[in-house]
Amino acid sequence: MERPIFDTLVEYCDEEKYPWHMPGHKRQAIDVLDKPYHFDVTEVPGLDEYHTPTGIIKKAQKKAAKLYGVYDSFFLVNGSTSGILAAVKACCEAGERLLLTRNCHISVYNAIELLRLNAGYVMPEIDSKLNVYGAVTPEAIEEGLNRWRDISAVIVTSPTYEGVVSDIEEIARVVHKYGKPLIVDEAHGAHLKFMPHHFPKSAIDMGADIVIQSLHKTLPAFTQSAIIHRASDMIKADDLFHAVSMFQTTSPSYLLMAGMDHAIELAVTETERVKSYIDDLLWLRSKLKNLNNISLFEGDKDQYDIGKLVLSAKRDGRWLYDELSKRGQIPEMYGGDHVLLMTTFMDERSAFEGLLKHLSEIDGECSLKKEDDKDDKLIRGFVPINGFYPDTACTIYEAVKRRSDSVYVKLQKAVGHIAADYVYAYPPGIPILAPGELITDEALGIIIQSVDKELNLKGIKNTNGEYIIEVL
Ligand SMILES: Cc1ncc(COP(=O)(O)O)c(C=O)c1O
Repeated sequence: MERPIFDTLVEYCDEEKYPWHMPGHKRQAIDVLDKPYHFDVTEVPGLDEYHTPTGIIKKAQKKAAKLYGVYDSFFLVNGSTSGILAAVKACCEAGERLLLTRNCHISVYNAIELLRLNAGYVMPEIDSKLNVYGAVTPEAIEEGLNRWRDISAVIVTSPTYEGVVSDIEEIARVVHKYGKPLIVDEAHGAHLKFMPHHFPKSAIDMGADIVIQSLHKTLPAFTQSAIIHRASDMIKADDLFHAVSMFQTTSPSYLLMAGMDHAIELAVTETERVKSYIDDLLWLRSKLKNLNNISLFEGDKDQYDIGKLVLSAKRDGRWLYDELSKRGQIPEMYGGDHVLLMTTFMDERSAFEGLLKHLSEIDGECSLKKEDDKDDKLIRGFVPINGFYPDTACTIYEAVKRRSDSVYVKLQKAVGHIAADYVYAYPPGIPILAPGELITDEALGIIIQSVDKELNLKGIKNTNGEYIIEVL
């Protein structure tokens, strides 16, 4: 009998591919945890209990807190997704407002719906080269804090998927001036604390109150492994853990928890490996600058995670993704005009050399096929253009409640209607529209551009060659 997931996974993993994507262990067995069935136990005597820890789990979490330099750390077995839900729950009451940057992960939007909150959006800057969201400024945050008086907490994504870091120190100062807690979604920054040079500082050390990190993204931990830190005493430990507990399974995986314990230990003790990784990464980045047709995105000094390799070519992102994949070099994702490759200290020099060889080859092909370049290079990306601001007709919760009365209209006829569902390109899942938002000309324009770019667009349907969208 066919086992669709099992058989495909076995086949996929037998092929020669190099993962320039999560999880950060890069599919290399670490220590003895390569025997999943052997280590997959449950909460039996001697192994503590996740939801009422008094033994080894408590000890490991305390050790993590010490290494990260925070008041408390709690392991998350349901990813940063569950940590974000918990952080918002710990800081906000129903009917209050969460101030969030528009590039927040879908879990923040889900928290808003679940907790029946109002959303106050702050627009980050747009990187004009890549047309992706960049940093959010302290001024924009302050503008948001002044605009709405019912804000109970602020959440910011830093670093972004592409590695752009915001000025968390100044943002924290502003947010604290208004007496509010600052939550930082640092899902892409679990490694920052352990990278002493060349990397930006973690939000933990910049004044954030709650910081959530995916250990599986940039450290050698299993998928779903994440951690939430109480980095100040603004929120009580019990309140935070109560919320954390709500969003974790009652059957936490010891494989995951042991993996987290181990990954953090490795980040601290494997100093030689970390050093070589940084040297090799800098070497690769310097070599990539010599390519003719492929360019490497360089963020601002101290505001950019150099571990992210964001590459754009004269062709679109999908083309570059396919060329790399054909050669067994699998990127994390592609956007309108770029691909994103994720590196960690598990990547060795030989992997970087292999990548460079393939990119050099593709670089030659880019120029050969230059005549095929699309001439719509100015129309690109999956994120809102500058100046775009969502126009909200009702809360996300109210819109979702009204969904039973929704109808579908042709995309071209959608302007003026209220979105019933999210519309977003995945990854990274940043909404172009959220439920309850008015569909404006601008929003429609972005959706059409994303369709043209063949992005993996969710929330619209193609029926017989015609695109339709669900509206209220
Ligand atoms: C910015 C950001 N925050 C949160 C998450 C959720 O993380 P996890 O997959 O660990 O639940 C992601 C996932 O990609 C993300 O990119």
